[in-house]
Amino acid sequence: MTPEFWLDRWQHGETGWHLPEINVHLQEFWPGLGLVPETLVFVPLCGKTLDLLWLASRGHGVVGVEISELGVQELFAENALEPRVTETPPFRTYAVDELRVLVGDYFDLTPAQLEGVGAVFDRASLIALPPQMRPAYAEHFKAIVPATAKSLLITLDYDQAEMSGPPFSVGRDEVQTHFGDRYSIERLASFDVIDESPGFRRRGLTALAEHVWRLEPHR
Ligand SMILES: C[S@@+](CC[C@H](N)C(=O)[O-])C[C@H]1O[C@@H](n2cnc3c(N)ncnc32)[C@H](O)[C@@H]1O
Repeated sequence: MTPEFWLDRWQHGETGWHLPEINVHLQEFWPGLGLVPETLVFVPLCGKTLDLLWLASRGHGVVGVEISELGVQELFAENALEPRVTETPPFRTYAVDELRVLVGDYFDLTPAQLEGVGAVFDRASLIALPPQMRPAYAEHFKAIVPATAKSLLITLDYDQAEMSGPPFSVGRDEVQTHFGDRYSIERLASFDVIDESPGFRRRGLTALAEHVWRLEPHR
């Protein structure tokens, strides 16, 4: 999954992962993290998700990273927001009020850009990446996200032999392998979503679960 793959998807409007509404699991489970509104939230591989705006509406500062500048432009334009655009090499930053989206590669982020982050929301980020990239994603995550930050992570779980990703299947063992050294991992909920996913059924899936995980740093 090269940057070109994603840029091409954006260029051709093939953004089937994008939801026209706020993620329901975010709305249900975010309050349970018990964060104060001042908490700065990191949203990796953010696309143009409306979740950024929902988090900002709760008073959070929000920082996202997205490799497609087109996607970021659509985020602001579709929500009638006029961003300030600044050069912050190796990123270009689009910002309005307390929302900042860094245009560039997640793997170029350093701890400096995520200084002060206290929570992370990952929906369709880890599972966007193929198996061979996920260890590097997780290692980089732990290198750049402050060790005290909590996370809400949403994954899909299915028989990878039935369908090729993205989105890829990520089960409990893998979440534990990537993040268990730093976090206590609790599965908050699981949903059977195959009936809501006719597109995946057409691609061959017979069963599909969506899991919501809370990652709490070990004390
Ligand atoms: C499956 S989409 C999910 C977007 C968003 N999380 C959502 O819920 O709508 C994955 C996004 O990651 C972006 N992306 C992929 N690789 C990236 C990278 N290395 N750095 C930054 N963004 C990346 C893609 O352009 C795409 O918008």
